[in-house]
Amino acid sequence: MSFISPIRLGDVVKAGFVQFEPIFGNIDENLKKAGSLINQAKADLIVLPELFNTGYVFTSVGEVEELAEGIPDGKTTEFLCELALHNNSFIVGGLAEKESGRFYNSAVLVSPHGYMGTYRKIHLFNEEKLWFQPGNKEPEIFDLGCCRIGIMVCFDWFFPEVMRILSLKGADLICHCANLVLPFCQDGMKTRCLENHVYAITANRTGKDDRNGKILRFTGKSQITGPQADILYQAGPIDDEVAFVDIDVSLARDKKLNPFNHLYSDRRISLYHYICKDD
Ligand code: ACM
Repeated sequence: MSFISPIRLGDVVKAGFVQFEPIFGNIDENLKKAGSLINQAKADLIVLPELFNTGYVFTSVGEVEELAEGIPDGKTTEFLCELALHNNSFIVGGLAEKESGRFYNSAVLVSPHGYMGTYRKIHLFNEEKLWFQPGNKEPEIFDLGCCRIGIMVCFDWFFPEVMRILSLKGADLICHCANLVLPFCQDGMKTRCLENHVYAITANRTGKDDRNGKILRFTGKSQITGPQADILYQAGPIDDEVAFVDIDVSLARDKKLNPFNHLYSDRRISLYHYICKDD
C-alpha cells in the first residue's frame, strides 16, 4: 500500500519508541498506558512493543481466542487510529490478530488518516508456535511520504533475510516491535543495519509476565540504530521510556560503501542459490 503523508516532506523524520510493561490480559489498561506515553511525545513515527496490548505469555488457546482482535476493526487498531489522528503521527504496534479462526502475532501501521496495513510475524519464537500461525505473506514496505518503512516482529531479527528483503524493496527504516528475552538483539541490530544501510527502531517491553508458574522476564533497552551501526539511543532495562531522534533519511538511501563497492550491485546472486534451497 502506498500513501503520501502530509506531515513532513523533508529528509528528516522524528522517530522513536515507547517502552513499558504491559499487564497481561488487561487491554484497557495497556491501551491507556501506551496512549499516555505517546501523548507525551511529538514525533512523526512511534513504535510500540510486540503484543503491547495483551502481554506475551499465553497459557492456552482459549486465552489467545479471548484476547486476539480483528484488524482493522478491533478495539486496539481503532484506538491507535484515534491516537495517530490526535498526535498527527504514524504508529506501529504489535497485537494478537484473529482472522478466520486463525491467530497471528501481528503488528499494525496506522496514520492520521487511519489504518494502513498489517505485518504478521514470520518467525515464531518458542511456545508462540503453540498459539499462532506464522505469517503467510512476504514482508512489504509502506511509503509514508516522509520515509519508507518495513515492519518486523521480535525474533524476525534473527533471520537476516527479513531485513534484506525489506531494504531491497526500499525501506529506509525498520520498525521492530519486540518482547526480547535474550541479550543478543541490540548488538545484532548493529550488523543488520550496517549490512543494509537502514535505520531500525527496536521497541522492547520491560518487566515480566508471571502466568500460572511460567515466568518470562523482558530485557528493555529499546534501541534506535543507524545505518553505520551507530546506536542513536538505547533505553534503560527497567523503566518506562519515550525516546525520539531525528533520522536523516538520505543516509539510508545511499548504499555506496566507497567508490568501488555498493551494497546491492556487489552482490553475486548467481552464486547464492544455496540460500533458497529447502532443507
Ligand atoms: C520473541 O520473538 N518475542 C523473543
